[in-house]
Amino acid sequence: MSRPATTAWRPRAPRTVSWLLVPLLLLGSACGGPMSSPEAAPEEAGAWSLYGAAQTARGEDGMVVSGHGLASDVGAAILARGGNAVDAAVAVGFALAVVLPAAGNIGGGGFLVYRPSEGEVRALDFREKAPAAATRDMFLDGEGKVTEAVVIGHLAAGVPGSVAGLWAMHGEYGTLPWADLVAPAIELAHGHEVDEVRSRSLAGAAPRLSRFPASAAQFLVDGEAPAPGSLLAQPDLAVTLTAISEQGPDGFYGGAVADLIVAEMERGGGLITHQDLESYAPVWRGPVEVEYRGHRIYSMPPVSSGGLTLGLILNVLEGWDPLPPFGSADLVHLEAETMRLAFRDRNTLVGDPDFVDVPREQFESQDYADGLRARIDQERATPLPPVEVAPPAESTETTHYSVVDRWGNAASVTTTINSGYGNAVTVTGAGFLLNNEMDDFAASPGRPNQFGLVEGENNAIAPGKRMLSSMTPSIVLDPEGRLMMVVGTPGGPTIITSVYHAISNVIDHGMTLDRAVESPRVHHQAWPDQIFYEEAGLAGDVVEELERRGHRMVGRGLSGDVAAILVEESGLLGVADPRRGGGASAPDSPGDAH
Ligand code: DON
Repeated sequence: MSRPATTAWRPRAPRTVSWLLVPLLLLGSACGGPMSSPEAAPEEAGAWSLYGAAQTARGEDGMVVSGHGLASDVGAAILARGGNAVDAAVAVGFALAVVLPAAGNIGGGGFLVYRPSEGEVRALDFREKAPAAATRDMFLDGEGKVTEAVVIGHLAAGVPGSVAGLWAMHGEYGTLPWADLVAPAIELAHGHEVDEVRSRSLAGAAPRLSRFPASAAQFLVDGEAPAPGSLLAQPDLAVTLTAISEQGPDGFYGGAVADLIVAEMERGGGLITHQDLESYAPVWRGPVEVEYRGHRIYSMPPVSSGGLTLGLILNVLEGWDPLPPFGSADLVHLEAETMRLAFRDRNTLVGDPDFVDVPREQFESQDYADGLRARIDQERATPLPPVEVAPPAESTETTHYSVVDRWGNAASVTTTINSGYGNAVTVTGAGFLLNNEMDDFAASPGRPNQFGLVEGENNAIAPGKRMLSSMTPSIVLDPEGRLMMVVGTPGGPTIITSVYHAISNVIDHGMTLDRAVESPRVHHQAWPDQIFYEEAGLAGDVVEELERRGHRMVGRGLSGDVAAILVEESGLLGVADPRRGGGASAPDSPGDAH
């Protein structure tokens, strides 16, 4: 995509604005005028509780950042043994399935964006698929309402893709033996210490998990979460992982584990059959490529909406050069107007490219982005026609991990079982949770899903179809074409906007990576037509000014869990978001305590 012409926003502050200058700028704008825009005062910016809280690591021979420090340590150990980024990614993927059961998985799916130090960038789609027996209206009751079965219980599960995906990436790029990469996860499954974050998370999920005996048996002690510091042993999972270690995907999609999955489906009225499991295959796809202020960004193509929507947001915002200062009402206004338009297209146009025509060229066209920008009123919010909306879920789980090895190969992987602990069903005897990814389809086109996303016919359920995703594993190159940043996050639709923030905070606002990850985020997803912001993340007068411009402002909890790596002159900086207890680890220098 080519660079757009700069449009009319008249910045009052230079891009490298120092917070020391802000009081002066505020004085300058105190007389009002059409572009008056409160900015976060330094005291307020400093008060954001996450500043200084990220867990970081530095290294020269590689870096792993993931949603759990134990999994990052596993990846760093693989790098230390001479494994490459894909070897480490595979080992981290399996380790997360053990230590982060809320999101890490073998019962879900995900995406890889991989940039080898030499050769082409590729994307691997190992997203779940609807079982062959799925139907368009399978989650509608007699009155046409979407039932709870779309999020909890057996029917909510799509055919898992993770094991096939990890196998495919290893087959293409891995160098260490497969079994060596599964081994650390098997060891962790025999017993690992539950930390405070995970104990709290299990306590929150206990009511859902208690509905299914195998889940209660695996994750709860007398119906309660295991206490921090206690040992969690998952013997059935260890056996399943051993089968995968010895037989590869045949140990999951066939044999005893497949029998257990199908038996579980029959027990709970689910749809996945042996045929669904045997026929599952991941797909290599060309990545989305975005040019942004001289940088090149590679991200995930459909069936993820992540890369296209991120690209459209960046292509629109690139027209304001520089962007208004971080924390200002002017910036949040432009971001929200842009996100609204980009999500409107995302929600209505994107779906599984093997089933529907996705107008990819529209998302990637600079002319189209220019047209959207021209529609943005810099003074007023431009509302969308109202539709039925529901309050989106605030805290659900997915997880991202970023890996760079000593040769400069970079892997960006986001994986999910959708909601925290997926559909809450543990496959009896096999020890792993299944996803509730069927809710990522538009179970009733035009009506909101659990994330409040209102999507169209392109994402209606069909047998064998992949459900639309927001996952946005991304890799950024600097203007010289060198690896600069590896980034991704969980967070449902906020994934796209959180990845945007992380990238823009570094490129546009000159932040260090830890500050870029810690900084407060805003999100707009078209419907509901409102700006979500992290509570206390915007100054009070900024919120008031945005309301004055016609925005509906909704403060809510923390958003996302970015796992990012920045290539610096002196080496690699790994940053784990403080929001959910992730960890960064380097082979040569383990990160701070996690
Ligand atoms: O693929 C998607 O877009 C969703 N299944 C992701 C869910 C998610 O990130 C929940 N996490 N916080």
